[in-house]
Amino acid sequence: MADVGIIQDGAVLIENGKISAIGTTDELRKHSTNAAEIDCRDKVVLPGFVDSHTHPVFANPRLIDFEKRIAGAHYEKIAAAGGGIRSSIRDVRESSQEQLASHVLSALHEMAALGTTTVEAKSGYGLDAVSELKSLQAIRQAAGDWPGTLVSTLLAAHVVPPEHRDDPDKYIRIVCDAIIPAAAREGLADYVDAFCERGAFTAEQSQNILHAAVAHNLKTRIHIGQLTHTALEDFAEFHPASVDHLDHLTDADIAWLAKHDTIATLLPAANYFLGLKEFPPARKLIDAGAAVALATDYNPGTSPTTSMPFVLSVACTHMKMSPAEAITAATVNGACALSLQSKKGSLEPGKDADIAIFDAEDYREIPYWFAVNRCYKTLLGGVVFPSEGTSSLLRSAATIARAAGNSRFAW
Ligand code: NIG
Ligand code: FE
Repeated sequence: MADVGIIQDGAVLIENGKISAIGTTDELRKHSTNAAEIDCRDKVVLPGFVDSHTHPVFANPRLIDFEKRIAGAHYEKIAAAGGGIRSSIRDVRESSQEQLASHVLSALHEMAALGTTTVEAKSGYGLDAVSELKSLQAIRQAAGDWPGTLVSTLLAAHVVPPEHRDDPDKYIRIVCDAIIPAAAREGLADYVDAFCERGAFTAEQSQNILHAAVAHNLKTRIHIGQLTHTALEDFAEFHPASVDHLDHLTDADIAWLAKHDTIATLLPAANYFLGLKEFPPARKLIDAGAAVALATDYNPGTSPTTSMPFVLSVACTHMKMSPAEAITAATVNGACALSLQSKKGSLEPGKDADIAIFDAEDYREIPYWFAVNRCYKTLLGGVVFPSEGTSSLLRSAATIARAAGNSRFAW
């Protein structure tokens, strides 16, 4: 994770939305003499960020929770009193698919402007069959209007909705017997997620949800260890692509992660926003050989940010990840967390030309300048976002993104 593979004076040759060659500018100019060029002098060029954990299908910010927490209330207490995730349900149920899709799309635009090119988006604020499927449809609609890549996750097991408070197992049956089969049948979800946590779902309930996912050929991922500990090994049979949050981990969990392909996805912006003193044990995980990814956890309750550069900054300052490790975690490891590593997450021939260009002379500046946007341009499938006068040039057969002078390329 500590080697980002810098190429000085580097260049990327793009053809038909894919990377066809990578090397120095001089080498690549020999390959292709008629390519349109994007001048990246004094810039850092990275694979676009892969934000592998977001909850963008909500309708309104949760400002009352925000003020209550500032006044000293705890996240779990607010949730137990009817705030938290449950307070986002009514707005989502009352919103149309179009309204939700437009919220998702505006988040995707913000993300792309900050260098993100692939996003995992979860449902999870509808919490009945109609509203969860509407949320997934909204994700699909937004995906159709965004040139980046969207991966869709069903999180019907986010919390038990109020109408099933007295009989949570009934809700779990609805999720397993109706919502998961419908999402699979309509091709609306790539993954199923569950919030395995005190106040949400027990390990056994979460396992039931993931069993149903596997039975319908959907891949799995889990929110686990955010507020309390649950052993990761209990979920080994599902081969989750990723286990997410991991604030509470034992040495046995860390050893388990080091031995398996499952990615440890850390979401430190949530710790920052909740004002927590503790952060997930990134150093222990990396030093043990686990593969760590970073994501925003964009959501209205614990992490209202679309900014991967901010997450990288918090990872460096509060989890002691090096800038290189943070970049690896936010790109190729995020791609692995979505099983997209053959197409995304690094600048290599054959992969999609999803590229973020930063106004910086050194990659370490990306987490260094925090709470500002240094992203100069983003390329989604070889096309500049937001599209501008140059976009027609980029649609030509081949383009070169080049770096010269002091600039550095990294993948
Ligand atoms: O990842 N942990 C569960 N879900 C979100 C919080 C959602 C919310 O509070 O709305 C998270 O932090
Ligand atoms: Fe989350």
